[in-house]
Amino acid sequence: GKPLLSQCYNLMDFEAVAKSVMKRGAWGYYSSAADDEITLRENHEAFHRIWFRPRILVDVKKVDFSTTMLGTKVDIPFYVTATALGKLGHPEGEVILTRAAKKHNVVQMIPTLASCSFDEIVDAAEGDQVQWLQLYVNSDRAITERIVRHAEKRGCKGLFITVDAPQLGRREKDMRTKFTDKGSNVQSGQQTDNSQGAARAISSFIDPGLSWKDIPWFQSITKMPIVLKGVQRVEDVVKAIEYGVQGVVLSNHGGRQLDFARSGVEVLAETVPVLRELGLEGRIEIFVDGGVRRATDIIKALCLGAKGVGIGRPFLYAMSAYGLDGVDRAMQLLRDEMEMAMRLIGCTSVDQLNSSLVDTRNLGSH
Ligand code: FNR
Repeated sequence: GKPLLSQCYNLMDFEAVAKSVMKRGAWGYYSSAADDEITLRENHEAFHRIWFRPRILVDVKKVDFSTTMLGTKVDIPFYVTATALGKLGHPEGEVILTRAAKKHNVVQMIPTLASCSFDEIVDAAEGDQVQWLQLYVNSDRAITERIVRHAEKRGCKGLFITVDAPQLGRREKDMRTKFTDKGSNVQSGQQTDNSQGAARAISSFIDPGLSWKDIPWFQSITKMPIVLKGVQRVEDVVKAIEYGVQGVVLSNHGGRQLDFARSGVEVLAETVPVLRELGLEGRIEIFVDGGVRRATDIIKALCLGAKGVGIGRPFLYAMSAYGLDGVDRAMQLLRDEMEMAMRLIGCTSVDQLNSSLVDTRNLGSH
């Protein structure tokens, strides 16, 4: 049988259990990445090339790692990023992530391609719980406009437009396993063809013609803060500021799009000094995702200037292996790690995290 939940001591442990309990096709869809999966591996490894320069003799009895993201107060600087097809991992799907996010007071980003309907996921939220919408832009802009306006009306507090996927990447593991599980279909109402794997099957509506020219249109149809998800170079961060968007996610889609894209945290290290030079520091909220598995990864990103990080696969794996209890424990493990790591680097709040606390001299050597 599978190990007891109490035997999972870190986020990696959930991955091993998920692999052993999930159907082959579902595992193939969640775990796969593009081509040779070099970027997938790099996302994780890039954090291993950043080392700490801790402070000593700081009173760290009380540690508080709450912060704000797009104006929302959160207990810990991560959010549940958008990952499609939640019901491949658990019959209840994305609402499991909604409940766990509530319990730990973090934000959940709702995917366009969720297995649960958008309204089910919003209805599963309680009280003043905050959710964001991840948007794949449809070639039919009337459909996209309806989705965006509906999300705003239902109280979503951020619009994350995915900009790294004009075409879905080639995920060969997914293509080989071609999930066929019933009940996992998305609510997009599209006809799907599974012969190229799950990802291709559900994404044919995405508009490869999306461009910077569309940004003012989004700004005209919504008051939600707009964040570009999947930015990969500082030039585009500067452009995002010029276009007046509120945030960027430095991300390569968990290695699932362009193989040999650099890790988000490396792009972050390139970005913040340039923004400072240009006098643009603080003009935009910067998020990072990809390969975040430890609280020390979160702290490294914050030291380098990120406002917060997104976490994807670990919560899917925890959900697939143990349901809500699994995701709850994964988040609790991150909190425990966070408290200890903050103490050990000599910081009592996130506003004390800065670049003097990390050594990035090896970050650029691949
Ligand atoms: C994703 N990701 C993603 N991103 C997006 O904008 N729309 C989507 O529908 C999906 N779907 C999706 C499914 C699965 C199974 C995975 C693993 C990822 C990318 C996701 O938001 C995020 O960028 C990465 O998952 C972050 O990397 P880690 O935390 O998974 O390493």
